Amino acid sequence: MPVQWPQGFSIQQLEKSHKRAAFCSGADGVDEWLKKYARQAQDKRLSVTRILIKEPDIIVGYYTLAMGQVNFDELPPEIARKLPGTMMPIITLAWLGVDQRFQGRGFGERLLAQALADCHHTGHIMPFVAVLLDCVTLNAKKFYQRYDFKELPGHPMKLMLPWKLLDEMMGA
Ligand SMILES: CC(C)(COP(=O)(O)OP(=O)(O)OC[C@H]1O[C@@H](n2cnc3c(N)ncnc32)[C@H](O)[C@@H]1OP(=O)(O)O)[C@@H](O)C(=O)NCCC(=O)NCCS
Repeated sequence: MPVQWPQGFSIQQLEKSHKRAAFCSGADGVDEWLKKYARQAQDKRLSVTRILIKEPDIIVGYYTLAMGQVNFDELPPEIARKLPGTMMPIITLAWLGVDQRFQGRGFGERLLAQALADCHHTGHIMPFVAVLLDCVTLNAKKFYQRYDFKELPGHPMKLMLPWKLLDEMMGA
C-alpha cells in the first residue's frame, strides 16, 4: 500500500534548489550529510536522497539509499547458509532524519516505510539479500528495532532486514 502523506506534503528527489540550511534533526551527522554531502554523492551516482517537502519549500525529513555489499559470513547463519560464499548485494539505508519541528508526528515511521517501499520496488529489478543500516546512536537503534530490523551478528550498531521479511511486509 502506498505511503500516505498529509495534503501539502510530497516526496521529491533532492535537487540543488531545495533549501537545506534550516534542516535540524538534532543529530549533527544526519544534518551535515543532507547539507554538505547528499547532493554530491547523488551526482556521483553513489546514493539517492529523497526528501519530504511541506509546501512551499520546508524540508520535513529525508532518507538516503545506496547499493552495497556485505561478505556472506557477516550475515546471520540462517541466511548465509543458503548463499554462495562471496560478497552479497545489499541496499544500505544510509541516512534518515526528521526535522525537530516535525518529530513525534509519524513522519519518521512513514519515511522509513517509503524507503523500504523503494527498496522493495528496486528488489524486483535489481536483486539484493537484505537492507542494512548503521545506527548513528543508541536512540536511532531503538527506533529501527521497532520495525523488525535485527542486529547483524558481531555488529551491535548494524541492523538488517532480510529480503524475505521485507517482501512479506510489503505484501501484507
Ligand atoms: C529517529 C527519528 C527519525 C524518528 O522520527 P519521528 O518522526 O520523531 O518518529 P515517529 O513520530 O514516526 O515515531 C514513530 C514511532 O516510533 C517511536 N519512536 C520515535 N523515535 C524513537 C526512538 N528514538 N526510539 C524508540 N522509539 C521511537 C515513536 O514514539 C512512535 O511510536 P508510537 O507510534 O507508538 O507513538 C527522528 O527522531 C530523528 O530524525 N532523529 C535524529 C536523526 C536520527 O537519529 N536518525 C536515524 C539514524 S540515521
